[in-house]
Amino acid sequence: MIHTLATADETRMWGVALAGTLQAGAVIALCGHLGAGKTQATKGIVEGLGSKIDATSPTFTLVHEYLDGRLPVFHFDFYRMDDPAHVLSVGWDDFLDEAGVIIVEWADLFPGLLPPQTKWFFFESLPSGERRVMEKSSS
Ligand SMILES: Nc1ncnc2c1ncn2[C@@H]1O[C@H](COP(=O)(O)OP(=O)(O)OP(=O)(O)O)[C@@H](O)[C@H]1O
Ligand SMILES: [Mg+2]
Repeated sequence: MIHTLATADETRMWGVALAGTLQAGAVIALCGHLGAGKTQATKGIVEGLGSKIDATSPTFTLVHEYLDGRLPVFHFDFYRMDDPAHVLSVGWDDFLDEAGVIIVEWADLFPGLLPPQTKWFFFESLPSGERRVMEKSSS
């Protein structure tokens, strides 16, 4: 399924719609170049799950937690992680065991860490500046 997202707000609303389909244990992998819209989509997912917090990229910490919605959300960004061991060292396996939703920006940097049920989404920019998001069943 391919969606064209004309504005940042449409990307956010795409995330809101995706959130409505998510159950405990969901893992969402968001891939695409710098500025492609991964964090924008995350804001929508977090909003759609009922959190009042404005999601921001976990730049200096590995994970941001949004615990005030329908399901707890754990938001990772692998961009600044050195290697998979770095991610494991902060308790990645424990987060996978939580009955929540995991969102991972730049998940394709360490695809081996992502469990089989992961939903993979790839964002790209069109020449018009619009974004396109494509779901793929695996990396
Ligand atoms: N259609 C669109 N969808 C999403 N973002 C858009 C769109 N059009 C413009 N933008 C702008 O592009 C930027 C996307 O930034 P965002 O932080 O979501 O990217 P990212 O993929 O998370 O990047 P990074 O790899 O740095 O984490 C925002 O400034 C947003 O306003
Ligand atoms: Mg981001």
